[in-house]
Amino acid sequence: MSLLEVEDLEVYYETEDGPAQAVDGVSFELEEGENLGIVGESGCGKTTLAKSIIGILPDAGYVNGGEIRFKGDDLTDMTGAQRRRLKWEEISMVAQSAMNSLDPVYTIREQIVEAIETHRPGTGRTESTEIVTEMFELVGLDPDRADDYPHQFSGGMRQRAMIAMALALEPSLILADEPTTALDVIMQDQILKRMGKIQDEVNSSMLVITHDVSVVAETCDRVLVMYAGKVAEEGPVEEIFGQPYHPYTIGLKRAFPNIRKPTQDLLSIAGYPPELVDPPTGCRFAERCPMATDRCREEEPEAHQMNGLRSYCHYAEDIDTELRPYADNPETWSQTAAARKAETGNVGGD
Ligand SMILES: Nc1ncnc2c1ncn2[C@@H]1O[C@H](COP(=O)(O)OP(=O)(O)O)[C@@H](O)[C@H]1O
Ligand SMILES: [Mg+2]
Repeated sequence: MSLLEVEDLEVYYETEDGPAQAVDGVSFELEEGENLGIVGESGCGKTTLAKSIIGILPDAGYVNGGEIRFKGDDLTDMTGAQRRRLKWEEISMVAQSAMNSLDPVYTIREQIVEAIETHRPGTGRTESTEIVTEMFELVGLDPDRADDYPHQFSGGMRQRAMIAMALALEPSLILADEPTTALDVIMQDQILKRMGKIQDEVNSSMLVITHDVSVVAETCDRVLVMYAGKVAEEGPVEEIFGQPYHPYTIGLKRAFPNIRKPTQDLLSIAGYPPELVDPPTGCRFAERCPMATDRCREEEPEAHQMNGLRSYCHYAEDIDTELRPYADNPETWSQTAAARKAETGNVGGD
């Protein structure tokens, strides 16, 4: 049994125009002690996925179908009280903006102690204070600063305090949603290294959610690429960033600096992810994909098992034989789909 099994999960938001299908049929598993990266551009459903796992969806959000099994139990069946018990103790979350997650009227110490005492009744004040000191040292904060209020901390320190809080109860699963996005590059690097070290010590599993693929390359064993509420591709980190089969992964990978090829030009995928109230039929990436054909616009792709990867592209099997040089060429990604179509009629595929 895996620690976390997400099966065919659908999470929608009620909107004026109808339900927005933010997470639509997502499945994956996470083993104990494993780190899974979830990548994709903004608006692809990553945060919604995390919130549904920890049980903090906003009022408009609801699980429309599927299961989230944690240690074998379906979280979507649990009552609010049962879920609150799991929070912090079994599953904790480091959100993008620590300022919003920390309460401004309590000191950091008070907040961590409160979390410990709520979940481990009977823990004495001395013991919980010791845990705070230990966690502060682990994330590289001076324990003497634990009696400060959140506003007395810099952004980087708040993020570390948040991580300390998320780790205090040694949860089995940590959801890190853009844990370092608001920080400068040096701070990012330090925090990522620390999270990796800490994780080795407490043996938690982690979902690392980010739009920045270099963060995932540094911290994760496996990667799930999400596009417009669906899985585009999933597999080991080396394969995903080495030889991906989904054009979206290929494009996304080229949008970030490559440590092995620092001089390589960065590109951006023209256009934006689609609206999720009335998502396109067929492959959701088709309208931005330089290789899309009519089939892509009509028929939803199934999973193709490719070299350890699970790739939801109709043409996954043709990438290595025909399409990879084309997909790897920056020129391919340099125009919008509309401009490309006007110029050539149709490009790539068959
Ligand atoms: N409270 C909400 N009400 C309605 N739609 C929402 C709400 N929160 C997010 N969405 C929509 O759900 C989709 C996924 O958003 P999100 O999970 O935040 O993506 P990501 O974290 O990948 O940027 C987006 O289309 C977004 O507009
Ligand atoms: Mg997000």
